[in-house]
Amino acid sequence: MDQKKSSLMKKSTGPNKLKAAVFISGTGSNLMNLIKFSKKDPLIEVKVVISDNSKAKGLGFARKFKIKNKIFNFKNKKKDENKILKFLEKNKINLICLAGFMKILSKNFIKGFKGKILNIHPSLLPKYKGLNTHERVILNSEKFTGCTVHLVNSKLDSGKIIMRKKVKIYKNDNPEILAKRVLKQEHILYPKAIKKLFSNL
Ligand code: GRF
Repeated sequence: MDQKKSSLMKKSTGPNKLKAAVFISGTGSNLMNLIKFSKKDPLIEVKVVISDNSKAKGLGFARKFKIKNKIFNFKNKKKDENKILKFLEKNKINLICLAGFMKILSKNFIKGFKGKILNIHPSLLPKYKGLNTHERVILNSEKFTGCTVHLVNSKLDSGKIIMRKKVKIYKNDNPEILAKRVLKQEHILYPKAIKKLFSNL
């Protein structure tokens, strides 16, 4: 992190606290898991939830735990991204956790956010970037897949890798079964990766 970002981060963090925004589009099991983590570990607070989908099941978790949540449909991506940046600044957010968020954030947004952006991806990056990872690993008769937490840059699933976890693929697996097995590991990996990156705060 450069000097400017790191001092901004300290200013907005206060002692020992990450103020996180979790971005979701769907089920939100990783969101729920990060909320649980935040209840146990003072390192992080899930302050806001952002979704591009008003029907995302995960929004129910935000409401249940009384976490501020906002929906932006991204029909005008530039406008919505600027609104999100303002909203994050207002809430002193210094960490974005993408968790099943289906929109690709622009270079402008990534540059404009003065904190870190993390993503969790259901494959062993740099292999199998993009969608339908479980279908593709099975089709390619891979023996292993896994999940990766990485920093977000402007190229799809390509930022610096923070942590990965390997998951075995069995003969009779189908994409649904495999997705469940990988998701279990995602729920362990995301908090671990956050701790690895920030536990010196
Ligand atoms: C996860 O597999 C995540 O790795 C991927 O999208 C899925 C989201 O699941 N990016 P959930 O909404 O957190 O349950």
